[in-house]
Order: sequence, then structure tokens, then C-alpha cells
Amino acid sequence: MDKQQLALIIPAAGSGERLGGDVPKPYLELAGKTILEHSLLKFKQVSGLGEVIVSTSAKYVTQTEEMLATIFPDVSCFVVKGGKERQDSIRNALEKISGKTGLVAVHDAVRPFITVQDIEKCVEKASLWGGAVLAIKAKDTIKISGTDMEIVQTPDRKNLWHAQTPQIFWAALIREAYDYAEKYNIYGSDDSSLVEQVGGKVVLVQGSDINFKITYPLDLKIAEYLAKSEKL
Ligand code: CTP
Ligand code: MG
Repeated sequence: MDKQQLALIIPAAGSGERLGGDVPKPYLELAGKTILEHSLLKFKQVSGLGEVIVSTSAKYVTQTEEMLATIFPDVSCFVVKGGKERQDSIRNALEKISGKTGLVAVHDAVRPFITVQDIEKCVEKASLWGGAVLAIKAKDTIKISGTDMEIVQTPDRKNLWHAQTPQIFWAALIREAYDYAEKYNIYGSDDSSLVEQVGGKVVLVQGSDINFKITYPLDLKIAEYLAKSEKL
């Protein structure tokens, strides 16, 4: 199969409520670069990248445009306004994607430790199946609770995974999923759940713990430590 042109969508418009602080997470610095720059630089090394679209808040549009022009001088780049939910931010970005794009990768701005190898593994599987999601096995036993905190189910851990990003799909499939979600006002906690709703086949690709999402203050401390030990 010919290599398809890849578009990258980075949602970076969140307010970072769980982390706290004045600066939104993607614009905090680690080892002299913003978290968003670190994430973008990983994708610069991926072959077939033809478009990059970042969703962000109004205040950060200019800074983000400058960042994209520096990192991707030869790639077509856009900055779009974010929406209320992550899904709204991604929907705004999807509107910018050109007809030449075969695959769309969505990656959280706040997962700067993604590796090029894992991105490429995911691209390969998505190209083959329609969708691929980087994921890690659940290490704790997961419980399903009822309304009074009572345990109602303990699913078999060997089938449980934590979904990460990138999540990569055929362009036509992610468009169909987002159109369907908009029409029926469906919100999912990741992109794959929307693709699953329209019957798309999405496979899991085993990733690594290092691709954690900077969510809570402890995550930022770990990220700072890793960046200092030159693991970024
Ligand atoms: N995001 C976005 N638009 C939103 C909400 C989130 O583009 N309306 C982005 C965030 O900037 C982040 C990614 O989606 O890069 C993953 O979201 P999350 O880690 O939940 O970040 P926040 O929503 O900013 O954090 P919180 O949920 O704690 O407020
Ligand atoms: Mg959020």
C-alpha cells in the first residue's frame, strides 16, 4: 500500500483545571521548551506528515502560529480556536484538513514523551485497519462501582487497557464519526469511542508508560524530573 499523507491534530485549548496555575499546560516549559513544542518536535520526525493543525485558546494563537512556522517550515499548518470540550476543539481542527489527507492522527499536546517509534507503529496499524490507538495494559485491578460505592463488577484485568494518544484513523472514517457525533450530540472521552459508534474497526497498539498525560501536579513533577535527566 502506498504511504498515505498524514495530518496531525493537536488539541491544546484546555484550561488545565486539574493541574491548576495560570498558564495552560501546553505552554508550560520543560527543559527550555514548551510542552507543546516537545510534542510537535516528535511528529516532525514522522514520515508522510503533510498538515499540522493545533487548536488553542485566543490568547495563544500568535505564539502557536510562530511555533509552527519555526518547527514545520515545509508543512501546511493552521491554528484554530478551541471549543468547550476537547472533542469540540478537535472538530474545529478537522474542518481544516485537505482532501489529500489519507490518515489523521490526534495527539494530546500534553503527552510530550511520545516516541517516534510508537507513532510509526500506530500509523502502520491505522493504515491497515482504519483506526489504531496507543494503549497500555491496566496494572491495577479495575472495579466498577454502583451508586453507594459498592463494587458491582470486577472485569478481567487482562482485557483492560488505558487508551492514550496518538489515536490515528482513516480521514474519511474520523470525519464520519465526528459528523455522526455532532448530529446526535454524542460526547466521548476519546476519539476512538466516536469511531467505534459508527462501526469503525480500531485496534490497540501496545505503547509505554512514558507516554503519560500531564494531568495532575505529580505528573508535572515527574515530567520535570525526566526532562532534567535528558529523557525528553
Ligand atoms: N483540550 C482542548 N480543548 C478543550 C479541552 C482540552 O484542546 N476544551 C486539550 C488539552 O489542552 C490537552 C488535551 O486536550 O492537550 C487533553 O486534555 P486534558 O489533559 O484533560 O487537559 P485539560 O482539559 O486542559 O485539563 P483539565 O481536564 O484538568 O481541565
Ligand atoms: Mg480536560
